[in-house]
Amino acid sequence: MPHITAPQRNTPIDPIDASGAARPAPPAPGKPQAPGEPLSYTRTAVVLHWAIGLALLAQIVFGFLLDDIAPRGTPARAGVINLHKSFGLVLLALIVVRLLWRWRHRPPAWPAAMSAWQRRAAMLGHRALYACMLVLPLSGYVASNFSKHGIRFFGIKLPAWGPDIPAVYDLFNGVHVVTALCFTALIVGHVVFALKHAWVDHDGVFARIWPRLAR
Ligand code: HEM
Repeated sequence: MPHITAPQRNTPIDPIDASGAARPAPPAPGKPQAPGEPLSYTRTAVVLHWAIGLALLAQIVFGFLLDDIAPRGTPARAGVINLHKSFGLVLLALIVVRLLWRWRHRPPAWPAAMSAWQRRAAMLGHRALYACMLVLPLSGYVASNFSKHGIRFFGIKLPAWGPDIPAVYDLFNGVHVVTALCFTALIVGHVVFALKHAWVDHDGVFARIWPRLAR
């Protein structure tokens, strides 16, 4: 799922623990797991991963179905598009929270069984997912400000800061559509590799992001 995710390690980054004693510095992300390293993501990281991931999936499906739900020129169109814009802006806020969280918390180290190129590929894939998560709602937001329709956020008209310029709208809407397609492809790859970890490699990578009551 929107492994779309990037979680955090169990151990705070601060190398001084609650008792004031110095702890060994955590390994740099992308390094293999050292003995004694935390194995799993924290509860907060898991909740952020699955909540935002599932919401993003729903929003992507909603976006691709816009023309079927409310074809252009029909009375329902404006309301449905504004619902998509409103959900998208809420998601943008959640994504910013998630990125800030990820910035402050490192993920657990990779299992030592993962090769260097696998770790690098996973890191690049996750960065690309984060990039799409930001570009997708931002491009939709910017595009909408260069359209006479603007944005109604759950019924409240937001101040538009751009003039009605169809060429600029088309440019940013094009970025929105292409990013949605890239994001969908990345998510498919993300899920395929997550399932490979679970069913082929049996290396614990899937289990550490899977929700469990006791963490
Ligand atoms: C993470 C959040 C978002 C996702 C995943 C998303 C996804 C999508 C997808 C998949 C489409 C259909 C693309 C196509 O036609 O093939 C779409 C269309 C659209 N989105 Fe978003 N979107 C998001 C946020 C936003 C935001 C924040 C806005 C504006 C404030 C917005 C405005 C639009 C508009 C106006 C269209 C229709 C474009 C058209 O057909 O003319 N989206 N979106």
